[in-house]
Amino acid sequence: MNNATTPYLIDLRKIGDDQIGFITVSEVGHNVPFQIKRVYWTYHTPENVVRGNHAHKELNQIIVAVSGELNIKLENRNEESFEFTLDSPNLGLFIPEGYWRTITFSENTVLLCLASEIYLQEDYIRDYNEFKFDS
Ligand code: TYD
Repeated sequence: MNNATTPYLIDLRKIGDDQIGFITVSEVGHNVPFQIKRVYWTYHTPENVVRGNHAHKELNQIIVAVSGELNIKLENRNEESFEFTLDSPNLGLFIPEGYWRTITFSENTVLLCLASEIYLQEDYIRDYNEFKFDS
């Protein structure tokens, strides 16, 4: 269903107005290019903490800052790197398999993740040298 090998931003639709507020939808086959098997969210992360520090072997993800702001740095095995700022709840970031990620949070940020696979510890590469040079 999804063949993208490069991360990209998704402009998720924003429905509503300033009077009543907004709703944003992630929908499989429309703006989510994989079947969602898992959803998780990360919160109460202090600003000086760097999360991530791993890559995935097969997992594809979409990350949204539903509140606050995220800085996400991505690197693949071919010396390509990308940096994204997620600063709006209607902005998604598609991250394909095979990217080392480091993520920092602004105050009160909530990171929402839509994931293509259930949680599998074996899908993680947590050693940077192993990621870059062994696989
Ligand atoms: P991890 O993916 O390393 O978080 P981050 O990249 O944001 O720092 O996960 C942190 C901990 O939570 C780790 O012990 C594994 C556990 N965890 C689960 O049990 N299930 C999950 O779906 C996720 C994402 C993490």
